[in-house]
Amino acid sequence: MSTKTPWWIRVPVLFFLIFGLMEYFIDSGDKPAIIEYPITQFFLLLVLMILIAIELILGSIENIMFQTLTEEGKERYLEAKNKKFEWTWAKNLMKKLTRTKSIEREQEIILDHNYDGIRELDNVLPPWWVYLFYATIVFGVVYLIRFHVIGEYDQALEYEQEVAAAQAAIQEYKKTAKDLVDASTVEYLSDPADLSAGEKIFQTNCVVCHTADGGGGIGPNLTDQYWILGGGIKNVFNTISEGGRDGKGMIAWKQSFKPAEIAQVASYVISLGGTTPANPKAPEGDIWVDPNAPAEPAGTESETPATEQVSDSTDVAMD
Ligand code: HEC
Repeated sequence: MSTKTPWWIRVPVLFFLIFGLMEYFIDSGDKPAIIEYPITQFFLLLVLMILIAIELILGSIENIMFQTLTEEGKERYLEAKNKKFEWTWAKNLMKKLTRTKSIEREQEIILDHNYDGIRELDNVLPPWWVYLFYATIVFGVVYLIRFHVIGEYDQALEYEQEVAAAQAAIQEYKKTAKDLVDASTVEYLSDPADLSAGEKIFQTNCVVCHTADGGGGIGPNLTDQYWILGGGIKNVFNTISEGGRDGKGMIAWKQSFKPAEIAQVASYVISLGGTTPANPKAPEGDIWVDPNAPAEPAGTESETPATEQVSDSTDVAMD
């Protein structure tokens, strides 16, 4: 090849090649290495400067060598150098893929027909097109065998698999997003695992004031339907998270527990509703009625556990 790639192609190509290799080999998680590790920016700058330095050195070596040439040699050298840069390989590839005849040689393939002076060329089918056509045949055969002979899977199965995968992803998300709950979004957790986790928190942190069965001590009875600060999972969550009235002794627990844990212990507290403690403390506060509960007498078809417990604990209180 008499003409070589000019520096303004060589330098960027090498630079981005090194950039790409660096990104490929450095494991930087989701973010590109250049952002994750700022030192790589320095490294790339160094690479760029070295590439430019190499170009400059090569340039001056060329210059020195040039000075050593004879007059005739200089002339020949300049002639070769000034030849315009050409994409020889790209041109050759293009020729192979199209097989067009140059205008000078069109005479060889011109057809006899003459339509008022317009004549037709008998060009071959462009190879790129023919290869593409063969590729569709291969694709078709493979497809036919996979889906109509073997019957690997069909649209319905594919759909079901994707729905299942999405459902799994939702479950996974919910697991990690449990801590997104707050007093306005919290729901009663009926899962035994959540309730036993809540019980554990209660037994270690709350029994000193509320006693182990929730009957009450320094703190009020948690099993009756009377609430000082409001019943129902949302109010209870709020009380545990933010604490009771100033000076009463019920601190805000949001520093100690994650929202998910508060939801668990709040659910446990709700689940104590209607149980019979050994030494129940006298009711404090007011009977709490869920404002969202259906108008009918609670207990029959109510969905929220809080309301069920209100009706249950009525019996207890009357005993
Ligand atoms: C230092 C004693 C103490 C501890 C420990 C304590 N509480 Fe309390 N708790 C109280 C007092 C006192 C009140 C009443 C607050 C008020 O009157 O404002 C209360 C109120 C409550 C209420 C609201 C009751 C109502 O009638 O509205 C809930 C629910 C509650 N506590 C749950 C818990 C949970 C869950 C824990 C453990 C994480 C806990 N408490 C730990 C003393 C305590």
